[in-house]
Amino acid sequence: MTAGKDADRLAFLGQLAAGLAHEIRTPLSTLQANLQLLQEDWEEGKTEKERASVQRIKLLLKETSRLEEIVNDFLRFAGMHKLNRIPHDLNRVIAEVLDFVGPEAQQKKVRILKSFGEMPKVPVDVNLFKQALLNLVMNAIQAMPNGGELIVRTQKWREYAQVDVADTGSGMTSETQAKIFDVYFSTKKTGTGLGLPTARRIVHEHDGTVGLTSEPGKGSCFTIRIPIGGEAKQGPAISL
Ligand SMILES: Nc1ncnc2c1ncn2[C@@H]1O[C@H](COP(=O)(O)OP(=O)(O)O)[C@@H](O)[C@H]1O
Ligand SMILES: [Mg+2]
Repeated sequence: MTAGKDADRLAFLGQLAAGLAHEIRTPLSTLQANLQLLQEDWEEGKTEKERASVQRIKLLLKETSRLEEIVNDFLRFAGMHKLNRIPHDLNRVIAEVLDFVGPEAQQKKVRILKSFGEMPKVPVDVNLFKQALLNLVMNAIQAMPNGGELIVRTQKWREYAQVDVADTGSGMTSETQAKIFDVYFSTKKTGTGLGLPTARRIVHEHDGTVGLTSEPGKGSCFTIRIPIGGEAKQGPAISL
């Protein structure tokens, strides 16, 4: 089989898988809605048996949420995004993402420090860029279960907009670092392992790069660089 045919086949399988994941969502939300109703019905359980049933329903609900998370992460990864690059004030976009995670960070005793440098407008697909940044920021927060600092720096670097997302969390061994961009690689109990592959794919689609420095026990720093130059342009569709 030629490389071209392989690529076609992969793209086709990707579309099939994305279709499948999409189809799973409807019955899943019916399941969820009905389990929620059941939970309400049995909430005031009086007998031992009724209380045991409530616990079972809760477990089922937790598992359906997990399924939903897996399917949504997959769709975000495999989704046929059309890039819509428009010049944006990246500092403002980043500030919005950090505001969004503010409550979560506060709850986890994570202090958010911003150090924003001057940057010209950068052509990005703002929703996809936010998604990529959110994935890095959530990982950073999750790497600091006992609190710490999340430092987000921006600066112009040559003809690129550079964004550093640093944390004072667990850090990673070089063995872990070698695998983090692999699809489905996760060291977390309930991780999907799609956050970083998705973030990297989005940055690559913007002709950018993702770099990493990390030290076990000290923390990690992810560096995104996105080219400033270039017209706002309609990029190619991302496919598997
Ligand atoms: N900031 C970080 N600090 C420590 N480990 C990290 C960090 N970001 C990512 N990782 C590691 O990379 C793995 C893959 O991340 P990701 O693709 O987002 O999947 P998930 O978060 O679902 O596990 C994580 O399970 C974790 O081991
Ligand atoms: Mg993640």
